[in-house]
Amino acid sequence: MEAIRLGLVGCGGMGHRHLFGLAELHRAGLCRFAPVAACDPRHENAVSLAAHVTEHFGTRPAVVGTMDELASVGGIQAVDICTDPPHHHTLAVEAMRRGWDAMVEKPMGLTARACRLMRQAAVETGRLLSVAENYRRDPINRLAKALLDQGVIGRTRFMMHNTAGGRDQMLISVWRHQKNMSGILLDVGVHFSDMIEYLMGDVTTVYAQTRLYEKTRKNPMAGKDPDAVEHTSPAGVYERWQKDMPAEFEATAEDAAYATLVFASGAVGQYLEEHAAHGRGFWHRAVYGERGSLDLPGDRSGQPINLTLDDGGLIEGAAILDLVPDFHVDDATAALFGGTRLWRYSFPFAETDRKIIAIEYADFADAILTGRPPEVGPDMGARSVAISYAMLESGALNRPVTIDEVLDDRTHTYQAEINESLGI
Ligand SMILES: NC(=O)c1ccc[n+]([C@@H]2O[C@H](COP(=O)([O-])OP(=O)(O)OC[C@H]3O[C@@H](n4cnc5c(N)ncnc54)[C@H](O)[C@@H]3O)[C@@H](O)[C@H]2O)c1
Repeated sequence: MEAIRLGLVGCGGMGHRHLFGLAELHRAGLCRFAPVAACDPRHENAVSLAAHVTEHFGTRPAVVGTMDELASVGGIQAVDICTDPPHHHTLAVEAMRRGWDAMVEKPMGLTARACRLMRQAAVETGRLLSVAENYRRDPINRLAKALLDQGVIGRTRFMMHNTAGGRDQMLISVWRHQKNMSGILLDVGVHFSDMIEYLMGDVTTVYAQTRLYEKTRKNPMAGKDPDAVEHTSPAGVYERWQKDMPAEFEATAEDAAYATLVFASGAVGQYLEEHAAHGRGFWHRAVYGERGSLDLPGDRSGQPINLTLDDGGLIEGAAILDLVPDFHVDDATAALFGGTRLWRYSFPFAETDRKIIAIEYADFADAILTGRPPEVGPDMGARSVAISYAMLESGALNRPVTIDEVLDDRTHTYQAEINESLGI
């Protein structure tokens, strides 16, 4: 079968990580894509990504700077959009109108309204729109979902998702601290929103307090030689851009949310996302049910789940699999992670990152080739964006906010300024 001709759009940090994921899939003999073009208005970024394509695939992709130039490459069938978030909706809508299927990085769109435009375009054009939401594809999160679906802890009553850390440091890039570019509570929070619904089902209402504590953020990499420092950014790819970012800059996006969530099932969630915490940082996700609890490890950590049952105590190690006899991961995950029934794994972070991105590509290709919907399509992608904004809207309005009112764009007090900056 002919490979799907793919354009890589947005060749920054995540664009490079996606290519490493595609190469991982290629090495596993499961890649259905031919990456034929690297597209970025920052020429040096497109050139860099193209060089990695040549290294891993042995082919020379076109280097282009615009969607028109991408179209002139000829025969493009799909695009993978990894630009910064303000461009997601314009590029995805344009791609679908050109007849290309699209995978777009999270957050699907920069606001609920941007997501609506993307959903409309997907319906109108009949093209496929997949959201590259990676955390749920972690095999340990697959196991967590299987345990919950199997009713191992009984009906769920509450979940906690609590994270804190960050102080006044820049998280990866300047734009993650700018309200109109995808502030940190959206950039990181949208992953958590997706995971929360993946495990617990629909969220209906949130009531949140939000804060902007650290109005000046610091970039410790400014002016440093990236080759002379230990790489600490995700998958070690960001330092070469961070060295040229300012040492200090103003942050305009809220950096803390404290929320209560209500689920359609009747369960309740406690949510704390703190990117400005000083002192001891922490990460905690747990689900409690009628008969026991699940303590879940950090996404992409490979650590085991801690399951405690009233009538069985702590279930440790591979014994957890006995409770879910039908659990098995999909073929691509099994091939990449080396097992169909995984309860832990251990790889360096960059390798885990590649494998999980490879799974996203395998899902996207299968959806294109079989006509089935992708795992995270426009409706689900838009819901995660709406949940993160429901917290920010609730913080701005000081009242509980429903996910539906944000999803339907009836409530947009907080997002108004962002929509205006996008011209939508
Ligand atoms: N899933 C994850 O774990 C994860 C991790 C990091 C980033 N992301 C997401 O990936 C996306 C990109 O983040 P990043 O860290 O790579 O940002 P980045 O700033 O490093 O890279 C963005 C790139 O997009 C390019 N670009 C801007 N406008 C463009 C256009 N019109 N056409 C083509 N290219 C364009 C920029 O020049 C830049 O090279 C964001 O949506 C971010 O939220 C996801």
